[in-house]
Amino acid sequence: MIDPSFIAEILITSDALQARIAELGAEISRDYAGQDLLLLSVLKGSVLFIADLMRQITVPHAIDFMATSSYGGGQISSGAVQILKDLDQPIEGRNVLIVEDIIDTGYTLSYLVRLLQVRRPKSLRICTLLNKASRREVDVPVDYIGFDIPNKFVLGYGLDFNQLYRNLPYIAVLAPEYYAET
Ligand code: IMP
Ligand code: MG
Repeated sequence: MIDPSFIAEILITSDALQARIAELGAEISRDYAGQDLLLLSVLKGSVLFIADLMRQITVPHAIDFMATSSYGGGQISSGAVQILKDLDQPIEGRNVLIVEDIIDTGYTLSYLVRLLQVRRPKSLRICTLLNKASRREVDVPVDYIGFDIPNKFVLGYGLDFNQLYRNLPYIAVLAPEYYAET
């Protein structure tokens, strides 16, 4: 199915992903015990993550989706963020937990946080599967981090390379010869 020449290495195996997601789910379940919880998934990269994470969360919770665009088709953040799909419901007075696939420069999330704060949620926290801390350009307070990863372009488990390969069950590093192709 997958052309292996795209992949330089497997960075995080499927088993390692699932083990860490189980830990995150347990932590979130403890932190939100007895409280209202709305998981806000940022499309499309976080769909696999939220699907697995919510099954590890043992407290009642609702989910909703937003779609943003920051990268166009390429690999380099423009800093410009566009809302392509907004939430279905108001979040005033609710405990909102943003579920993201990856934080890179931080532009997307810092914009999203500012936009959502205006709607006066009771609390607003961030859970990201992957964190590229060395690439951060704007500071965003992250409450739950799955894995800190090096500054490499990754794909799989929701993350795309030119909209493809989101279905890989692991996180892989894109082979360097493909970096410039988008
Ligand atoms: P930021 O605004 O630079 O933090 O961009 C975050 C978004 O860029 C993520 O939600 C991804 O959609 C995308 N992105 C950043 N790094 C990667 C990567 O290594 N692989 C795939 N997508 C990435
Ligand atoms: Mg994303």
